[in-house]
Parts: sequence; structure tokens; C-alpha cells
Amino acid sequence: MPTDPVLVVHGGAWAMPDDMVEAHIQGARNALQAGWRVLDGGGSALDAVEEAVVIMEDDDTFDAGRGSFLNREGRVQLDALIMDGATLRAGGVGCVEHLLNPVRAARKILSESPHVYFVGEGAEKFAAEHGIPLCKNEDLIIPREMERLRKYQQEIARAGRSDDSSSQAGKELFAPEISHDTVGAVGLDRDGNIAAATSTGGTLNKAPGRLGDSSLIGCGCYADNLSAAASTTGWGEPIMKLVLAKWTADRIAAGNLPEWAAQEAMNHLKQRLDGHGGIIVLNRDGQIGIAHNTPRMAWAYRTVKKQEAGIERNAL
Ligand code: GLY
Repeated sequence: MPTDPVLVVHGGAWAMPDDMVEAHIQGARNALQAGWRVLDGGGSALDAVEEAVVIMEDDDTFDAGRGSFLNREGRVQLDALIMDGATLRAGGVGCVEHLLNPVRAARKILSESPHVYFVGEGAEKFAAEHGIPLCKNEDLIIPREMERLRKYQQEIARAGRSDDSSSQAGKELFAPEISHDTVGAVGLDRDGNIAAATSTGGTLNKAPGRLGDSSLIGCGCYADNLSAAASTTGWGEPIMKLVLAKWTADRIAAGNLPEWAAQEAMNHLKQRLDGHGGIIVLNRDGQIGIAHNTPRMAWAYRTVKKQEAGIERNAL
């Protein structure tokens, strides 16, 4: 008997200001709609999470694709991962500068390469060779982000502060007020397979070449039919040290509900490393968890019976 499909998306966990709330909710809804169209038509969870993430990469609201935070040199550098829970195949790109939709390149890697990761120029070369057009880095940059970077760099220069992440300034840089708008999706299809995808522009003023958690298997993204599909958002360094997406999936494999595991993941992130962020998680029974320890996180989900979207939620 076919499984009832489920789709959950997130558009980042941080203290998004009031005037950005509606754009985040609408962006998450648009992504949900695109992914749901795939699932409703009998398509795979893998295709659905890819389509959902593409919509948010194309939306300037989010820190993914065009409109992402700028690095220290004023350039956009993007990371993305997609993973198939049925086969454990995965595709990831890191530090790419010339792709409007890094998740599309990640999907090509998953589907057409024996490898799992490509970074930088090699990733772009792979994408171009597989029919994905390259763009200029300027095509990914918007005035809002140029201004955000200018203000931030002016502030740290005025204060004579270092921007090392171990310094006080570094800690402030990763404060939930400033970042993180990473996007992601987890889906369950009619065949009972789950998948996950995550895409990000990373953190504001990051060092060139800095790779975050988002494109790392088990950190920013994970999917295994034997446990769960998860996508995280937030301060990448603590999330990757805790391998948080896999940590959460393991709790579900041990028999816990996704809503409990999502909340526990946030508790673990806070208690172990004083980290902050958010997570969406889904198992093969269609049970979901949404949790964050930041003031806000944009999310949306849909099942055959129900759909909802919002900005604040601490586990379902
Ligand atoms: N979670 C996104 C990043 O830290 O790059």
C-alpha cells in the first residue's frame, strides 16, 4: 500500500526582525508548494526536497543562493548537500561561487558521480560538464547584503576587534540576531522513502574557504530509511562538532519520536557547546519534529490531512 507523503521545510533559525517575518513564512510556503507538487504527483522524496530547496535558493529572503551573506572579501560562497535515505547516496558541494542553485549541482553529484563531494572550482567544473550553467559571483550578490557586510566590518574595525571565531567578536558574529538563514527540506514519498537537502551561504563575514555544517553528511543534513531525514540550521561549527543531524537520526532509530529527538538535539547543542540553531526531522512513519533554540525559525509542513507554516515553534 502506498505511503502518505509528508514534506517539511525550514528557512533558517535566528532572530529575524519583525519586518522580515512575512517574507520568511511566504518563502517557506512557496518551497513547500513546489516540493508537494512533486510528492503529490507520485515523485520521489529526493526530487521533492531538491525542488523545495531550489525555491528558497532563488528567493533573496534567505541565506542560500542569491541574497546570501557575504564572506570577508565581499563574495558569496555556497555549500549544499542532498541525501537519499533509500540508498544512502549523497551529493555535496562546498565553497562554490558561480552556481545559482548549488543543490542542483549536489543532486547531479548524487545521481551521476561515484564521488560524494566536490568543492570550489572542481565542483563548478563538474556542474558545467553536467549541463548546469555557471553565473558570475556578482549575480549572487544583492545590495542588502553589501550593506550588511559594510556595517559589520565597520563595527569591528571601530571597536578594534579581531574577527576570529574564538574571540568575543567571533561569538557575537554567530549570535542568533545576525545569522543564520540556511534552508532545508525533508520529505517522505509514496514509496516510503525519505530524503533531505540543505543549502546555505554560510555565516556573515566568514573567512574565504570556510566550510560550514550544511554540506557535511550527518551535520547539516542526513537521510537514512532506517532512521530519519534531518536538516539543520544555525551556528555551523558547534553543529558539525556534534554531528547533529546524525545524532538526532540515531535517537529516532533507537525508538524515540522525531518531536522528542528534535527538541533533545537543541538541548544537546545548547548544553554541550552553547550552540544555537534549529532542526527539522521526519521518519518513515511520517512523524515529524521541528525545534529551535533561537528566537525564531521559519518552517512549513504538509501532510495529506494538514498543512501549516510559521515562525516560532519548539517541537510539535
Ligand atoms: N549552518 C550554516 C553555516 O554555519 O554555515
